[in-house]
Amino acid sequence: MTIPHPIPYQGSKRNLASHVLRYFPTDAARLIEPFAGSAAISLAAASQKRVVHFLLNDLNTPLIRLWHMIVHQPDELAAQYDALWQAQVGRERQFYDDVRQLFNQTHRPDYFLYLLARCVKAAVRYNTKGEFNQSPDNRRKGRQPDAMRHDIGGAAHLLKGKTQFSACDYRDVLSEAVQNDIVYLDPPYQGVSANRDARYIGGVDYNDFVDSLNDLNNRHISFIVSYDGRTGEKSFGKSLPTKLNLQQIELKAGRSSQATLLGRQDETYESLYLSSALVARLSPQAEPVQAILWNEMA
Ligand SMILES: C[S@@+](CC[C@H](N)C(=O)[O-])C[C@H]1O[C@@H](n2cnc3c(N)ncnc32)[C@H](O)[C@@H]1O
Repeated sequence: MTIPHPIPYQGSKRNLASHVLRYFPTDAARLIEPFAGSAAISLAAASQKRVVHFLLNDLNTPLIRLWHMIVHQPDELAAQYDALWQAQVGRERQFYDDVRQLFNQTHRPDYFLYLLARCVKAAVRYNTKGEFNQSPDNRRKGRQPDAMRHDIGGAAHLLKGKTQFSACDYRDVLSEAVQNDIVYLDPPYQGVSANRDARYIGGVDYNDFVDSLNDLNNRHISFIVSYDGRTGEKSFGKSLPTKLNLQQIELKAGRSSQATLLGRQDETYESLYLSSALVARLSPQAEPVQAILWNEMA
């Protein structure tokens, strides 16, 4: 089954979603995504009926407002996107700039969806005043309205009546987690998130993040973190400390484009870290975690 993805978003985990889901316990009542973005893991979990309830949080308030509208007013949003898309024809560049200006004044969800569909690499970028300032990709008109309508409707169908939304700092959401939940954390990439983060709104301090994971451990919460990775022998991002007692799993994410350019064969691996409460919860399941790890690396 194809999983709907209404929000184009750089950093989306849609390609890794099926791997991440393999580490979900069978008895998870709710999935919490404190750094939801395009919510690729929630959409995959809902489509495979792995979890009943969802909590989608992101510090980016317009993004959460967009999610709210996708789930609660899908037809209206699809119609608004269609109208914007049609209105751009023949004057795409100027139209994009006009919508970007209107978005910065109003934060309307339909404007945001249009900008995400049209901007370079579907990558959100903000200036120091917090205004969206990403340029358009002038080679593309953005996803066709019919395809967008289909994905908006599909996501609404998967999440309606089961999903809570919030737009706060990840730490406020983590304080709500209970032992029945599964928490999937995909913070902004390190290196871009140390100070002001132009790629996403907000940022995450390494030490604060480690403290938060430590607190989750103390409360026996099951969680999975996407954090660092490597291409060949070259690591990117700082690993999470061993004192957190996490099980690290490397997922093959494909050949790196840089390595290919250099004529090398280096594969890129992304790390997942599993909390000890999760590993304990998984061990009675059919396939032991170690065996899954071996398959990933084979
Ligand atoms: C790597 S992206 C998540 C991508 C997501 N897994 C997906 O599949 O699309 C990180 C997200 O964290 C959000 N973010 C940044 N700082 C945050 C904070 N302090 N609290 C909550 N969310 C934050 C960003 O707005 C961004 O959407």
